[in-house]
Amino acid sequence: MLTREAERYVDKIALPAAIHQTAEVLDLGCGPGSNLDRLQRLGLPFARYVGFDLSSAMLAASKSPKTVLVDFTRGNAHWLPFTRGSFDVILSTWMFSHLHKPGQAVREAWRLLRPGGWLIIACFTRPPGLPGRLLDLIEPVFMMHCVSPDEVRTWSGLFDVKTFFGGYNVVACLHKK
Ligand SMILES: C[S@@+](CC[C@H](N)C(=O)[O-])C[C@H]1O[C@@H](n2cnc3c(N)ncnc32)[C@H](O)[C@@H]1O
Repeated sequence: MLTREAERYVDKIALPAAIHQTAEVLDLGCGPGSNLDRLQRLGLPFARYVGFDLSSAMLAASKSPKTVLVDFTRGNAHWLPFTRGSFDVILSTWMFSHLHKPGQAVREAWRLLRPGGWLIIACFTRPPGLPGRLLDLIEPVFMMHCVSPDEVRTWSGLFDVKTFFGGYNVVACLHKK
């Protein structure tokens, strides 16, 4: 599968290094709550999960009941309606390639991180050369606007970036000291 290696890196390396028992987690572009399922499947501890997505249909498809520990909110990742320093871990899988201004969403997420917090982004990217030009052909079909791995490297707070699948995927980990 196109995203398998990147997903494995999130599961085995990025998320376990960031998460802890008292972590409040924001899932940007959560879809039906995929990363809540991920945390539960991996048996990783956390104190609170907030799923955030533009699509009410996606949120309606979430199977988890809203509780004190689990909440879902609708909105646009370019403007996040949370106060500064609300979260310890912000996770986003396969949403950033749908954004017109990914840099703005990174700045918004950064604002919400507490000191010591982690922002983990898995996203489709546009590799250089012919592979990138091939992507140009299918991007409009999937309403995507992929950034290049080099642009990801300009995001401030970047701790580590790993590329997968010939540069079509990255996992970027940003750390707020
Ligand atoms: C490919 S799905 C990924 C869902 C989930 N994160 C996963 O890994 O399965 C992308 C999600 O991003 C959401 N999305 C797209 N643009 C968004 C935006 N500007 N703000 C918030 N969510 C957005 C879509 O509604 C969709 O649920």
